[in-house]
Formats: sequence, structure tokens, C-alpha cells
Amino acid sequence: MTSSYIGQPLNRVDGRAKVTGEAKYAAEYNVHGLAHGFIVSSTIARGRIVRIDSGRAASVPGVLRVFTHENREHLPSYDRDDEHSFLPLRDAKIHFSGQPIALVVAETSELARYAASLVQVEYSHEPHVMDLNTRRGEAYDPKEDEDSASSTKDRGDAQSAFTHAAVRHEAEYTHPCEHHNPMEMHATTAAWHGDGKITAYEKTQGAPRSQKYLMKVFGFKKDEVRVIASYVGGAFGSGLRAEHQLFLSVLAARELARSVRVTLTRQQMFTIGYRPWSIQRLKLGAGADGALHAIGHDALTNTSRLEDYTENDVGWSAALYNCPNIKRSYKVAQIDCYTPADMRAPGGATGMYAIESAMDELAYAAGIDPLELRLKNYSEKDLNEDKPFSSKQLRECFRQGAQRFGWAKRNPAPRSMREGNELIGWGMATGIWEAMRLKASARAVLTYDGKLDVASATTDIGTGTYTIMTQIAADTLGLRIADVTFRLGDSTLPPAPIQGGSFTAASVGPAVKAACDAVREKLFKLARNVPDSGLANAKIEDVAFVDGRIALARDPSLGVTIVGAMRYGNLKQIEEVAKAELAEDLEKRYAMYVHSAIFAEVRVDADFGSVRVARVVNAVAAGRILNPKTARSQVLGGVVMGIGMALHEETLADHDLGRFMTHNFADYHIPVNADVQDIDVIFVDERDDIINPLGVKGVGEIGIVGTAAAIANAVFHATGKRVRDLPITLDKVFT
Ligand code: MOS
Repeated sequence: MTSSYIGQPLNRVDGRAKVTGEAKYAAEYNVHGLAHGFIVSSTIARGRIVRIDSGRAASVPGVLRVFTHENREHLPSYDRDDEHSFLPLRDAKIHFSGQPIALVVAETSELARYAASLVQVEYSHEPHVMDLNTRRGEAYDPKEDEDSASSTKDRGDAQSAFTHAAVRHEAEYTHPCEHHNPMEMHATTAAWHGDGKITAYEKTQGAPRSQKYLMKVFGFKKDEVRVIASYVGGAFGSGLRAEHQLFLSVLAARELARSVRVTLTRQQMFTIGYRPWSIQRLKLGAGADGALHAIGHDALTNTSRLEDYTENDVGWSAALYNCPNIKRSYKVAQIDCYTPADMRAPGGATGMYAIESAMDELAYAAGIDPLELRLKNYSEKDLNEDKPFSSKQLRECFRQGAQRFGWAKRNPAPRSMREGNELIGWGMATGIWEAMRLKASARAVLTYDGKLDVASATTDIGTGTYTIMTQIAADTLGLRIADVTFRLGDSTLPPAPIQGGSFTAASVGPAVKAACDAVREKLFKLARNVPDSGLANAKIEDVAFVDGRIALARDPSLGVTIVGAMRYGNLKQIEEVAKAELAEDLEKRYAMYVHSAIFAEVRVDADFGSVRVARVVNAVAAGRILNPKTARSQVLGGVVMGIGMALHEETLADHDLGRFMTHNFADYHIPVNADVQDIDVIFVDERDDIINPLGVKGVGEIGIVGTAAAIANAVFHATGKRVRDLPITLDKVFT
């Protein structure tokens, strides 16, 4: 494939729509006769609703209906409770503070919100527990899926190797609950069409998944419900599952026979999924030379009483480090909270924080440079399943990252670098994330005017999917970007997975390429028949599609325009649909990962202990980079979230009340511009001919993995104080 666009730092094709406000988000569809719903949230953590009195609320002029578990329509599938373990307005049980217990629908959102404050609720309380620490004794092995099974497999005898190791490090690392706060809050505008059909404009990472949910819960047939998510203002995992507003808006729309919108407030964003609390114990044993002899990693995260939320916290060390003895465990314990949710690099961000902090501590214990220690234990295969990597340019990440950062100039002694009143610390860490690929499909329609329309039901949650798919399509057919349109975020388009796991480029990209390749083949056959095209005896390998022409690669003067070929064939359009997926045996034969090396400089105020991240260099190996500009944005965003994880983000719980105390941006801190200084992203060349026809692995989540450890390690280097409990706030640096 000739690439004029792939690999180029193209601006977002949806950028103009976004900055002009033309791009519509779920809560911006002002459909005819729209009513507004506001959620009433439970004020207790556990118990039952004894009485719910919506009389006063319902009597407010302009209020259309107050929905509760007592008066909502009977829904056979919903009432069986087999899709989600918690469903809003299901019954009188209260499972967590903030649980939606009523929906007030009114003519305006202000009225609905006001009337919601008038709903009177009496509860019967049951004892609750919200503190994971007190639940250690109740921890259990969650139901194993295939992934977590392989990631906890033992290797050798870690306990004995640890006992006999010349250098040992053992410590516990914790990090708190972190809540999802994408810029766009969760919202659904459920447009009612009069004939019982619904179009849900929905904040989601997967329109087809939300459609399936609605089909299942409400018994819609496929053509009765359409889900549209053309633009999504960030999601990071919060939109993987259907959230409260989708069910509630559609329920209300059906019963009122009107369009209804439900939006979560920023406060209510703290009633949806979150990154769970984690407690991790790391045991590392090494020879005097730093060679790892033993890795022990035990992780505990919280889940709800409703279902097991699990993540891969402990599977990474065996993919990174060459160590003969490895023992790992992963357990969960229940608290009275809503179920956690995937949050950018779920498991990876958590597990690698602990692993890479422990590796730093081992480096000091062994008197070896932290980067040297990583190189010393560099693994050439994934020891989880003894598989070779499809590609692994991590060594190059270390080399280029260290060089750009100036790591060689580091004085290894803690508290050795200072400028005025600032203690300077340099820390580093490794990042790793799976390079996954799921089944996806796409359709390409080329019309006689030379315009190409490509579509797939994937999503662009801000990642750049619109742009990179346009690039792939344009290059495959040799068209200009301006002549290609890519559509997504609509459940009626060819099926594609949710956007998550950083797998969209590698999953949907090959489908787009395959659909365009099929168009290409048809065009080529047409072109061969065009008299005087000079292509009569050519094979498809002999031609190039460039600038709207199909021409002989060795003599581009011979050929025909795409428009000319279609005209000759008397075709109005060529339409092709293609599916693409990873060959199953590839997954069995190869380990596929994205890697990174992160270097961070912190400056710590010697008096106040406040930490500033002055510089981060993140060198990433993620296969072929389709668009260095959008890919860089993904990694930048990941690093910023990593800064938040290291220094700021923490949802504090009031254990007595069983509720989150932090539920706004005054209390829940995320990095602001002043916290984000110099971030440098390097993409290391990595060729991967195995993974997919595009050689692309996907970026996004990799940006956060390892970042918090690099910063925590830098804080130690600056201050000599090891903080093993995120976030690293000044009180912890001091004491
Ligand atoms: Mo991501 S946590 O897979 O949206």
C-alpha cells in the first residue's frame, strides 16, 4: 500500500466539527417534545426503601411523572436480573450510596431537578462496610476467566528462592479509589418516534453494545432501537457498560410516549464505576548482580456485593522480567459500593505501579542503577505462557528515552540533586499493555464521483479513530483525505467492538483496509478493461493507486483514473463489506504487547513537601504509528492521568456514612494545566509483521501504565522518602 497519509501527523478530520460546536454529544440533541429526567439518589449505603413518597414532587406544575421501583413497567428480562447485577429502580434494595431510586421527569431540567429534591424516602438501614482494609480477611479468589488464570500461574519455587536471595525487597503498595470524570458527563437523549421505536443518543464506548442492552432489557427488536454516539467527550472505560441514564431515559420515554433526556450531574458521576482500591504486596529476590530470582505479587482489590469486578493486576511481571520463580495471587473483597469499572489501563496502571515501585526499591537495595536493573532482567519471551513476542522494542524505548531525558547524568544518591529550595528527583519505570485485536467489520462505498464513504459501528471517544480510519481508507485507494468520509458511532453500521482496551486501531483498521481492498480489486478489474489503459496484462501487484488513479507502478504514465474506470464500467458505485479478525493460532503462538519506558523529573519543595512533575519522557513501542499527532495526544493524556494517579486523584470515603465524600472537582483533584509541564513522547520504530496487516498495535492506555511509578520513584530520589500509598500528597512526603 502506498502511504501518503499513514504515518503522517494529520489534524483530526473531526477537529473542525468539534471546535465549532457542530459536533453533537448525547445531551445536545434537541428533539421534538423533549422532556427531562433527573435522578434521585439513595442517601444510605445499604438497606431497603420502606416508603417512597413522590406526591409532592409529582404535584409540581410541569412534572410529568416520578418513576420508582413501585410504579415502573414490568420488564421480564430486567426483573430476572441477569444482565447487570445492579439495575436502577429494580426493587426496594439499596446496594450503595448514590444508587438511583427514582427518576423525576418534567418539562424542563430545572423543574425536574427541583422536584427531585421533594421526593421523600424512608429507609431501613443495614450495616455497611466501605473500607477495603477491614475486609482483607474476607478476600477470595474471583471467578477465573482465562486471562486471570494464566496471569496467576506459578513458576518454580518463589518462596524458597526469595528466602535464599542475596538481595531482597518486600513491601506493600496501595492506591485509592479513583473516579471516572471524563469531560462529557453521562447522558442519553432517548428520542421517541411515536411508533414505539427509539433512537438513543447515548454517551457510550460502543453503540452496538448499548443497543444490545436495550434489546435485552426492554425486549426491543433490532430495528426498533438505534443507538447513536457520533461524538464522545472522553470515556476512559466509564462508557463500556450501560450506565444508569440509558435505562432510565428509555424507560421514561416508553411510558410517557415522549422523548426524554437524562444527564448525570458531576456529583452523580461519583455514583458510577471507578478504579477500585488496591492493596498489593510485592516480594522481589535477586542475586548480588541484580538478576531476579523470585517475584511474588499478591493483589487485592475491592468489588461490590453485586458481582465480581476483576482486573489483571499481577500478570505483567512475567511478561517483562526474566525470572525463574514467580508466585502471584489476585483476590477481591466485597464492600458496600457500586461495582468498580475499567478505568484507563485497568489492572495495568495498578499492577505496574506496584511492580515498578518495587523494582526501584530493589535497585537501591542492590546498589544498581534502576535502568540497569531492568536491562539485566529483560525478558525475550512472555513467561506467563512461554511465548515469543510478536515484537518487542522495549530495549530501544529504554535507550531513546534515557538519552532524551539525560538519565546518564543522574546522581544515584537520594537527596543529591537540588536547585535553590527545590529537591530534584529523577525516576523511571517500565510500561506494558496488551496489544489486543477483536473481530470487526466495515463497509466501503465508492461512488462514480470518486468519493469514498467508509463506515463501521466503532466509536471515537476522543482517540482519533475518525482520522486514522480515514487515513487507512484514503491510502488504500489512493484518494485524497477530502474525498473520504468515515462514519462511526451508530448501531446500524457494520458491527464493531466497543472502543476500549486500546484495540480499535488494530481491530477496525484491518476491517477498513479489507473493505477498501475489496473495492480496490473491483476497480482494478474494471481498469484492466479500459482500452488504452495499458493495464490489460497487469496484475494487481503491479499497480499503484495514487492521486485518484490506477497506474502501473513501474510506469505511472500508464493507467486510468478511478472515475474514468467507473464511467467505463457504467458503475454508479462499488460497495464492499469486510470482516477482519486475528487468526486464532497467532494468539496461541505469540505474546502481543505494547511497551514503554517512562522517565520523570520531580521537584519537591524542601519546606512544604509539595511535588511538581517538571518533566516526563515517555518512549513508546506500539508497532506502526498511523498518526503520530493523535497517537501522541493519547500518550500525553495517559501521562497526565498518570500524574493524577501519582499526586492528586483520590476518592475519599466516609466509612461511617458509607459514601464518597469527594464528589466534585473542588475535592476530587485532577491535574490542571499548572500541574502538567514538559511531556515528551517518543515513538520508537517497531515493525510487527505478525500482529495484523497494518502492523499496528494501538496506543492509549500505555500512556498511563508505569507513569505513577516513575513519579513515585522520582519522589524517593528527590527526598529519600519512599511513599507507597498513592496519591503522594505533601503530608506523606513530610512524615
Ligand atoms: Mo478502556 S478502560 O478499555 O476504555
